[in-house]
Amino acid sequence: MSMLDHAVPAARDLAVTGRSVIITGAGQGIGAEYARHFAAAGARCTVVDVDPDTARAVADQITDAGGTAFAQAVDITDPTGTEELARTVVERFGRVDALINNAAIFAGLTLRGLEEIPLDEWDRVLQVNVTGTYLPTRAVAPYMRAAGTGRIVNVGSAAVPQGLVDCLHYVTSKSAIVGMTYSMARELGPHGITVNAIQPGGTRTEVARKTQTDEGRALMLARQCIKRHEVPADLVGLALFLCSDASAFLTGQVIACDGGSTHR
Ligand SMILES: NC(=O)c1ccc[n+]([C@@H]2O[C@H](COP(=O)([O-])OP(=O)(O)OC[C@H]3O[C@@H](n4cnc5c(N)ncnc54)[C@H](O)[C@@H]3O)[C@@H](O)[C@H]2O)c1
Repeated sequence: MSMLDHAVPAARDLAVTGRSVIITGAGQGIGAEYARHFAAAGARCTVVDVDPDTARAVADQITDAGGTAFAQAVDITDPTGTEELARTVVERFGRVDALINNAAIFAGLTLRGLEEIPLDEWDRVLQVNVTGTYLPTRAVAPYMRAAGTGRIVNVGSAAVPQGLVDCLHYVTSKSAIVGMTYSMARELGPHGITVNAIQPGGTRTEVARKTQTDEGRALMLARQCIKRHEVPADLVGLALFLCSDASAFLTGQVIACDGGSTHR
């Protein structure tokens, strides 16, 4: 049997031009950077955040620069809101090609030992970071399944392989992203939908955060192969790739993009 007896796919395209991409938590930080870069690459972006003002500001910035974007104020833990989000995007752009489950509770957390974490904070972190990844995925899945194609990008954290201390709820929530990514990939793969996770390292954004100390930053840098601090733009290339045709045969993977601080 020759190799050509098997269907050989055409070369895969890295472009996201015209793609309808939903990015959660895009009102600030890494998510806002994704939205700006995806729009600059010709994608049609839905900028989702629980904060309507920041979502609108990012969407306005994109449209002022000539890109295509609109803001949707959605709490990703709300099943009705996330279903409405998917419906609204399909009404507006005709389809949902990709969902980046980027929103999470992180920047606002205080580092503290496991006995000090208030139970309501524990619950909210798991709700936003875990259920808030599940619900938007559940909302877009029927549209992607009907289209026979789709891209789900979840967001993990280097805090998991590092076993970061003093934010057990956050690390627990990001551990769940790993299993969710594996299982979602198996369940949705037969429908042409890929599911992967980006695992960032400690990334400096415009937001001041109590979760990054000088000591922690120095430790991070010492672990990295590339000796400079990670910034949101470092994650954009991987996100674009995972939302393009070029990654059509890549699914169920958790990909560290952290300057080489962790190895599996
Ligand atoms: N920055 C880092 O060092 C780092 C490292 C590893 C992983 N990550 C992950 O990358 C992603 C982005 O990180 P970041 O630093 O930009 O985060 P961030 O905290 O600065 O931004 C998160 C955004 O999500 C929004 N959000 C929070 N709860 C929401 C909800 N219920 N519904 C809708 N939106 C909600 C917030 O309003 C905010 O705009 C997160 O998943 C984070 O866990 C970040």
